[in-house]
Amino acid sequence: MAKVKDVLAALDNLTNGRCLKGPGDWAGGQNPWVVTKSSNIPGKAVVEMPGLVWGDPEMEVKKIAVCMTMTESVIELAAATGVNAIVAHHPIADSANSGGVLIKYYLGIYNLACFELHEAFHGTHPGIPWLHGHRPFFSSVCYDGIPGNIVYVGDVIPEIKTVGDMISRLDTLMNAQMDEDMLALERKTRGCDAIEETAVAARAKILVGKPENPMKKVIHMFPHCGFTPAHLERLVKEYPDVDTLMATISRVYPGHPLVAKAEELGLNFVCGNSHALEIFENGVPMARALKNHLPDCEVVIFRERQTSVPLDCFGSQEIRDYGTDIAKEYLHRK
Ligand SMILES: [Fe+2]
Ligand SMILES: [Fe+2]
Repeated sequence: MAKVKDVLAALDNLTNGRCLKGPGDWAGGQNPWVVTKSSNIPGKAVVEMPGLVWGDPEMEVKKIAVCMTMTESVIELAAATGVNAIVAHHPIADSANSGGVLIKYYLGIYNLACFELHEAFHGTHPGIPWLHGHRPFFSSVCYDGIPGNIVYVGDVIPEIKTVGDMISRLDTLMNAQMDEDMLALERKTRGCDAIEETAVAARAKILVGKPENPMKKVIHMFPHCGFTPAHLERLVKEYPDVDTLMATISRVYPGHPLVAKAEELGLNFVCGNSHALEIFENGVPMARALKNHLPDCEVVIFRERQTSVPLDCFGSQEIRDYGTDIAKEYLHRK
C-alpha cells in the first residue's frame, strides 16, 4: 500500500528531484523551486513549496486526485469520494485554498493530504507547444530578463498548413464540441440561455488573420507573463519568417497594443488554450506520471467547470425568493 511519503517520492522523481524533502531543503534557499509569489499586496503573498503541504507522510494512500487549484469544492469532492491525497498544480495558501478556513482543521477532519507542484513542474515537458502544433527551436523562460516571461519560437508540425488547421487541431484535442454540447444541455436543463462557461467562452480563436492564411513559424507567448509589443518587434527582427503570434493560458482582447502590433507586422494572431484548459495540458500528464509511479493507487482528475449565471436565473424559485427576502430584511441598502 502506497503512503503519503511515496506520493512525495513520485512527485520528486518525476520532476528530477525538485520537491522539498524536508525543512533542511528549503532552509537557506537550498531549493530554487521554493519561490515567493507577490504583487506586493500586504499579506497576500504565497510561497510555493513543491511537494507535501499537509498530511502525515506515513498515512496510506489508495486514491489520488489531481487538480489545478484546490478549493472547497475540491476538498468536499475528495472527502465524499474516498480520496486520500490531493495534488494541486497551483500553489496552496492556507484558508485561500481551503474555503476560508484552516487547512489543518478542514483537511484534518477528512484525513486528506495535499501536495502542490507548480513552477517545479513547468518546463518538465514540451506538451504545450506540441498541443498547439509546433516544435520550438528557441525558448526562453525569462525573455528580456523578465523572470517567467516564457517565449517559444517554433516551426509548425507538417500536418498544419494554415491558421485554421491549428485551431481545428486544438478543438479536436480539447474536445471543444463536447464542451459546447454540455453547455447547450445545461442551458436547456436549467431553462436559461444566458449561462456561459469558460471553455466555450474562451475557446481558441483568431484575433488577426483568416483561417486560410498559411502558418509556418510561430511566436508563442503568455501575455500574463510580461510580454510586450517591443518584445514582439524584436523577435520578428530576429526571426523574420515568423508569420503567426500565439497567446495561450491568458490572452488579449481587441484594442490591446499587441493586436495592433501584430497587424502592423502583418502577422496572424491566434489565441490557443485558456488557463481553464491547463488541466489537460499539465494535469493529465502529471496524473499519468503519478499512475506510472504508483500503479496500485487510483488516480482521478478533478476538472473545474466555471459557469456564469444571471442572478435572475440562478437556483430554484425558492432560493431566488430566499435571496430577495434576506437581502431586503437584513442587508440594508444604505
Ligand atoms: Fe501551470
Ligand atoms: Fe496555471
